[in-house]
Amino acid sequence: MEKLLIEGGHLLEGTVPISGAKNSAVALIPAGILADSTVTIDNLPDISDVGILAELLEEIGGKTELDGDTLTIHPENMFAMPLPNGHVKKLRASYYMMGAMLGKFKKAVIGLPGGCNLGPRPIDQHIKGFEALGAKVTNEQGAIYLQADELTGARIYLDVVSVGATINIMLAAVKAKGRTVIENAAKEPEIIDVATLLSNMGAKIKGAGTNVIRIDGVEHLSGCRHSIIPDRIEAGTFMLAAAAMGRSVIIDNIIPYHLESLTAKLREMGVRIETNDDQVFIHGANSDLTAVDVKTLVYPGFPTDLQQPFTSLLTKAQGSSMVTDTIYNARFKHIDELRRMGADIKVEGRSALVNGGKRLEGARVRASDLRAGAALVIAGLMANGVTEITGVEHIDRGYSNLEEKLKNLGATVWRETLDTKEEEEVKSSS
Ligand code: EPU
Repeated sequence: MEKLLIEGGHLLEGTVPISGAKNSAVALIPAGILADSTVTIDNLPDISDVGILAELLEEIGGKTELDGDTLTIHPENMFAMPLPNGHVKKLRASYYMMGAMLGKFKKAVIGLPGGCNLGPRPIDQHIKGFEALGAKVTNEQGAIYLQADELTGARIYLDVVSVGATINIMLAAVKAKGRTVIENAAKEPEIIDVATLLSNMGAKIKGAGTNVIRIDGVEHLSGCRHSIIPDRIEAGTFMLAAAAMGRSVIIDNIIPYHLESLTAKLREMGVRIETNDDQVFIHGANSDLTAVDVKTLVYPGFPTDLQQPFTSLLTKAQGSSMVTDTIYNARFKHIDELRRMGADIKVEGRSALVNGGKRLEGARVRASDLRAGAALVIAGLMANGVTEITGVEHIDRGYSNLEEKLKNLGATVWRETLDTKEEEEVKSSS
């Protein structure tokens, strides 16, 4: 077990290249199952979730080769191997194995997903979609069993706008007989990315990126090559780090349009930002940041995945800010840790009231989930002295070469192995 250490107070300067999107990658890899021939995915982020998904494809008989940021998937010998336990439980996105295997083999057994603990994360809308397509779905001893004689296109209205359900239903429907219409679909850029891969494989999908997606089923899908879109959440995290501590930082290889809600909020706080086709420039850490209120919403609203790191920045702003998470109302596990660092924050229901303007102090803190980890990294960059972050495995699930990227910007950050006593403390607190 390792911990991440950050000596705060160093200004950041330079260019940071952004990797491919984690939340696309975790759907695109299972989507490879649906093809009859080789699928090559480029621009993959170097994160642990990618390796785990590649191993899952091997478990069902596929061959995969991971070379740098390229994964080649050979799906020819895959079969409907049940996956009730093991790797499948390590990440939440293994739920995409349900849609992909159901679409390909008309059956699947998938252990209920693990992943970040953000409070209740139901998958009822995924199941509703699979059932509408003709699958029988049961939950037996912590695994979902899916079985269909035939999948037939259907009209599915999502009661909750869900990224996962939208993608999972697309995966199950691309080879179904006839037309599927997903209404009240999510519109996140990652959904367009998955639809692009599937279309390149031969699927017929219209409307991805709007709230109505139409899919006309096809019999066969063939292999193709696809490059993943940039990770807007990783980019946003570096924008926040730059707003907190940047002298002059360029966030490179991004689609600035995907980050408009964050850019607008940062400008409202007084951060100087310029954008061009594939970069964002952040000038000068501003000591007079203004407090702002922020509410997370589905895309194109302010992303819930940036709520936690944004809260860290707000501790620096003069005045009181209200942060409300309408997507995950229990996504506030980072707050206790920020308080350990001296932050003045109160949580009430699904909101956090941040009284900013006070310098944070380095402390020993724990990342309870991926974006809580990002929040603590930003807090550590701003704090006086050294911050020690445990729970690094959560950060490694979603940020590609985080330390190296921060070091290249001038941050002082390093890793150490936990000693036995620290390991025991971490285990007893989790
Ligand atoms: N929901 C339901 N029923 C469902 C599905 C979702 O009630 O069947 C609710 C959820 O509880 C939540 C809301 O709908 O309140 C939105 O959930 P959504 O399904 O959109 O989330 P997800 O697909 O499980 C993805 C990302 C998350 C990100 C959310 C919201 C992946 C692998 N995960 O999760 O990313 O927070 O969308 O944008 O794409 C992260 O990157 O740190 C992360 C957690």
